[in-house]
Amino acid sequence: MTVASGLEGVVAVTSEISSIVDGVLTYRGYNIDDLADFSTFEEVTYLLWHGYLPSQEELDQLKVDLSRSFSLPSELIEQMKLYPSTANPMAVLRSAVSALALYDGDAENNTIEENWKKAIRLTAQIPTIITSFCRIRKNLAPIQPLENVGIAANFLYMLTGKLPNEVAIKALDKALILHADHELNASTFAARVTTGTLADMYSAVTAAIAALKGPLHGGANEQVMKTLKSIGSVSSVESYIQSKLDNKEKIMGFGHRVYKNGDPRAKHLRDMSKQLSAYVGNPVWYEMSILIDKLVVDKKGILPNVDFYSASVYSYLEIEEDLFTPIFAMSRITGWAAHIMEQYANNRLIRPRAEYTGPVNQHYVTITQRAMVNS
Ligand code: COA
Repeated sequence: MTVASGLEGVVAVTSEISSIVDGVLTYRGYNIDDLADFSTFEEVTYLLWHGYLPSQEELDQLKVDLSRSFSLPSELIEQMKLYPSTANPMAVLRSAVSALALYDGDAENNTIEENWKKAIRLTAQIPTIITSFCRIRKNLAPIQPLENVGIAANFLYMLTGKLPNEVAIKALDKALILHADHELNASTFAARVTTGTLADMYSAVTAAIAALKGPLHGGANEQVMKTLKSIGSVSSVESYIQSKLDNKEKIMGFGHRVYKNGDPRAKHLRDMSKQLSAYVGNPVWYEMSILIDKLVVDKKGILPNVDFYSASVYSYLEIEEDLFTPIFAMSRITGWAAHIMEQYANNRLIRPRAEYTGPVNQHYVTITQRAMVNS
């Protein structure tokens, strides 16, 4: 047996959803650069799910379907009020998505038709879970979603109750497009492994959220913001980065298992961070990020990934730092759903092997004999 540590370079499934070839990311064959510049998150959702760009009618229908599903079961809201206010929002999301299954009479119905309905419900309800918990933990009432408003606008609205401006909506919408799918990343793989057992969609999405939570995956964006805050100013950047590198510590938001010449999503987020820094009149996070980027590239030759500039973008949108990873989930649910449906459609149980490296030929000794030997 040859072990590919971290399954690096192993091709585990075939997929028609997204691809990374020579550092270029495409969704269903469309370059992420075009989608980020010209599309909307709902349009990209349709593309990921159905394989083609929707007509106006098809897009409108998806928006109506999502809009009708934004609200949460009242039982779940009551349950969330019992969660500790200090709970990690990703842990809350993981628990709440799992709990959603309890209130869905079709949770165990694995037909294609019912599963697409679940994909719509989960995509619509994840933003409501995040914003509701964010309000509940501050002793504020959750805000009812607006009708006929897209996911980015509704999310920002449900956080504060104020209608967001177009700049903020556009920025978040673009960030959602950029995070929507990414081939066989760790959380998508977790979703596909769970689906491969023919478990229900809620189980697969719960597994995916659990995998996304880790700091080596989606959790990195939150860690980037912690880093920016702990550095505090542009003048302190160089000594901080140097000491991290001297201590062989990782700089969050840099490096990637697949992209060794740069993550194509990072430049969009960098540009967005620059625009928002000018818009809100606070250049500090952007300027610190640019300097960290330059130093890590110069000193270590490692480039920023999708998480690095998304931290300052979300911070400029006045989103609390521990909601950054839940926002990643709010976007990636669309990719997870597409992969879950693809796995169901052509399923084979995913069950790799392990090379055993433990002791061999052990002889069993009863617990009484063990006690005698040790006394
Ligand atoms: N900061 C400093 N050094 C880094 C680094 C980082 N963010 N990412 C990788 N490296 C270094 C490693 O220390 C290692 O150096 P070495 O060969 O001298 O030991 C080398 O680059 C290879 O790194 P490795 O961790 O083996 O690569 P990987 O393919 O397993 O890791 C990540 C990919 C994403 C897990 C890794 O780059 C990382 O931990 N990045 C920070 C977390 C992050 O931003 N995650 C979000 C990913 S989208």
